[in-house]
Amino acid sequence: MMKQLILSLILCCLIAGTGFAQKSSLQKQGTATQLLVDGKPFLILGGELGNSSAGCVQDIERIFPKLQRMGLNTVLVPAYWDLIEPTEGKFDFTLIDKTVKQARQNELKVIFLWFGAWKNSMSCYAPLWFKENYKKYPRAYTRNGKPLEIASAFSEAVYEADNRAFTRLMQHIADTDKEEGTVIMIQIENEIGMLEDARDHSREADKAFHADVPTEFMKYLQTHKKTLHPQMLKKWESQGCKQQGNWQEVFGADIYTDEIFMAWHYAKYVERLAQTARSIHNIPLYVNAAMNSRGRQPGEYPSAGPLAHLIDVWHCGAPSIDMLAPDLYDNGFVNWVAQYKLHNNPLFIPEIRLTENDGVRAFYIFGEHDAIGISPFSIEDGSDSPQSALVQGYATLKELTPLLTRYQGKGVMKGLLFDPENKERILTDDDLTITCRHYFTLPWDPRATDGSPWPEGGGILLKLAKNEYILAGSGIVAEFAKTSEKAVSGEKKSLGEDGFVAKGEKTGKEIATEEVKWKGARCGIGFVDEVRVKEDGSLTYVRRMNGDQDHQGRHVRIPVGEFKILHVKLYEYK
Ligand code: DGJ
Repeated sequence: MMKQLILSLILCCLIAGTGFAQKSSLQKQGTATQLLVDGKPFLILGGELGNSSAGCVQDIERIFPKLQRMGLNTVLVPAYWDLIEPTEGKFDFTLIDKTVKQARQNELKVIFLWFGAWKNSMSCYAPLWFKENYKKYPRAYTRNGKPLEIASAFSEAVYEADNRAFTRLMQHIADTDKEEGTVIMIQIENEIGMLEDARDHSREADKAFHADVPTEFMKYLQTHKKTLHPQMLKKWESQGCKQQGNWQEVFGADIYTDEIFMAWHYAKYVERLAQTARSIHNIPLYVNAAMNSRGRQPGEYPSAGPLAHLIDVWHCGAPSIDMLAPDLYDNGFVNWVAQYKLHNNPLFIPEIRLTENDGVRAFYIFGEHDAIGISPFSIEDGSDSPQSALVQGYATLKELTPLLTRYQGKGVMKGLLFDPENKERILTDDDLTITCRHYFTLPWDPRATDGSPWPEGGGILLKLAKNEYILAGSGIVAEFAKTSEKAVSGEKKSLGEDGFVAKGEKTGKEIATEEVKWKGARCGIGFVDEVRVKEDGSLTYVRRMNGDQDHQGRHVRIPVGEFKILHVKLYEYK
């Protein structure tokens, strides 16, 4: 025992001494996957720079202090292949070094985005010497033979050139940042996917398409049959779950089979880069996807990217990738995020359209999906005013981090998100029914009815113990009742701010004549306190929110425009 202890101590000292301690990594806690940074669970309160905002040192210098004022803890920054290797074989890391230096000065972590062979399907960030030499570095082709400005994933020369530059980048990060660990993750390529056609139709690609589906993938389908994505299972079943055959024999002859085939080859390509990264500097890796939205077909959207319905292809082809991450620019946020929080995929949103709603959306994903992080795109265009919803939201989430990370994966948190179409969510917990709503469902706030836009309201409901909760966020209201109480209380009358039955509603007398005999206990609010969360996760009292602020004990609420952390203690009475 003693010997073992001494050996582990020596090992720890050796690791620390050589600077090989891994500064960021992933770990499981219950059902959640957590990102550890400097040994502690970390929530990415991030932002991604616009594509051309890290292309000169002056811009990096100018932008980063603003990001710190906005309360970000992480910035996602492109690493441009064309600027890193402007001349073949000659590398320049000026922008990378400047990014890391500025990030450290502004207390930010960095995620580099490898804009290598592909960026939004295209190969626009490949250096000119690569683009011009299309004979050596061939393009993908459409089915009618049109070359695209998309490097072919089937070309070894493309891979070698891309991998050579990526290797140098990873080596440079390892040499300059292994000790400090400012760079916490790497995104490999950007929104990979075929456009104009669902797959590459170059000669090499066609050859691969007519060959058998690799045994590796056939075996994966068999061994993971019970947990395959429903769409993948359906596709495989459509041809009778064949154990062997070419792509069309196994999956049928349609555009979605072209997509599966193409995804396999993109994934295999990415896996080789991921192995490069792992062998040099072992930090978490992810790939991002443009969504298959608005009824479009593969090729109309970037076909074969790391999309939810292709997760099995990507998992089998690129097992060194930790996450498939959605870029969210379309409507239907709640639906999109649910598609990417899977039993085998933690949720990380590297890009989302920059809006003031992102503040409450961040609460939703941490509460509902144990997310790793969120990062609005073109973040430098956002407001750094302390009143901005995003700034307030990030500040509140930063404070909440020790609590949230303590409870992630333990099934005690829910995310709330409301808008004019989705105003209410009813939760049940223990013997309680908790009715959560948008703040503007309280009719006395004039903004609810005077035509003002309803900003999204959202937050986190965290259960600390029986009858004890944290409610945090903005623009929400929650009522707590015994489930048995709900069953006998009948339809509830809407009350005004003074607690009187609202104008136009039936009177209290009419409720009484319903003659439902009351039975059982009721749930009351013992107290609601606004609190601060300390770094060790303990709570400090700020003020009691009683009287008008909790509707004389009827509900718990956080107005639109404010972000708060409330500690709620319930009790029961008969
Ligand atoms: C998604 C891409 O990943 C980004 O680099 C950028 O092009 C945005 N789209 C623009 O909306």
